[in-house]
Amino acid sequence: MKKITKAVFPVAGMGSRFLPATKATAKEMLPIVDKPLIQYAVEEAVAAGITDMVFITGRNKRAIEDHFDKAYELEATLEAQGKEELLRVVQSVVPKHVNCIYIRQAEPLGLGHAVLCAQPVIQNEPFAVLLADDLIDGQPSVVKQMVDVFAQHQCSILGVQDVPRAHTKQYGIVGSTSLSLNVEKVHTIVEKPQPSVAPSTLAVVGRYILTPRIFHHLQKVQAGAGGEIQLTDGIAALMSEEQLLAYRFNGVRYDCGSKLGYLQAQVAFGLKHQDLREEFAAYLQTLS
Ligand code: UTP
Repeated sequence: MKKITKAVFPVAGMGSRFLPATKATAKEMLPIVDKPLIQYAVEEAVAAGITDMVFITGRNKRAIEDHFDKAYELEATLEAQGKEELLRVVQSVVPKHVNCIYIRQAEPLGLGHAVLCAQPVIQNEPFAVLLADDLIDGQPSVVKQMVDVFAQHQCSILGVQDVPRAHTKQYGIVGSTSLSLNVEKVHTIVEKPQPSVAPSTLAVVGRYILTPRIFHHLQKVQAGAGGEIQLTDGIAALMSEEQLLAYRFNGVRYDCGSKLGYLQAQVAFGLKHQDLREEFAAYLQTLS
C-alpha cells in the first residue's frame, strides 16, 4: 500500500490575467483576506498528512520562498513590541515537521512541464498536485478526500466538478462512467473542448493525485497550442496503461486565477473571517 507524502505546487505561471499585480510577484501570493493563496493550498496538503511540499517556481520565486522561511528580523521586531498574537501567526505559517523544497522552472513551458520538473524529488512515489489559484473550501480538505480515495484504489485521481456546458472550453473535460458514489472511471480526457463536442461537463480543477508513471509520459508529450506542454496530454497517455479515476469532491471552489472568482473568494472568506464577518456583512448590506 503506497502513501502520499509529497505534494507539488506549480507556481511558475505568468499570471497574465492579474497584471500588473503579478508583475513582480507570483499570482499564488495574492491574498484572500489576510493569507496568500499558496498558504491555503499548503494548509490543505498538511491536513491530508503530506509532509514534503515541492514548489515549482519561476521568475517571481523570491516571495514564495520568503513566505515559508523563518523571518528572523520580523519575528524579533514583533517580539520586542510584545505583539505575541502576530508573532504566533508568522511562526505558524508551516508546521515544523513540514519540508519545503524549491525547484526552478527556467521557462514557463506549461503545467505539464512544471510537473515534470518535480521528478528528481518525487522519484518513484505517487504524489499530489495542487494549483493554488483553485481555492477550494472543503471539510475535510479536498486533498484529504482524494488521499482517502487513493488509499482504496491506488491509482491516479483527478479532482472534478460539474461546470456549465458553455464553460467547457476553459477546462480539461473527462468522459467517464460511474464506479461508486462520487468516483468515476475515466475513459477519455480532452483539453478545452468546445461545448458542442465536450464529452461531458465534468471539468478537471486544480487537484490531482498522480502515479510516478506520469513522468514517463510527460517526457514524450509534444508542446501543443501556445508552445505549452499540457498536463492533460500526459494524463491521456497515462490512461492508456493505468486506471484513471475522477473524484467529485465535496467543497466550494473559487477560480482565483480569474478576477471574478478572486473577488467571490474575498467576499466568501471575508464573511467567514472571525474578526471581520459582522462588520463586513453589514457593509455588504449597505450596497444592495
Ligand atoms: P494557468 O493556466 O492559470 O496560467 O496555470 P498562468 O500563467 O498562471 O495564468 P494566466 O493564464 O497567464 O493568467 C495553471 C497553473 O500552472 C502553473 C501556474 O502557476 C498555475 O498554478 N504553471 C503554468 C506553471 O507552474 N508553469 C507553467 O509553465 C505554466
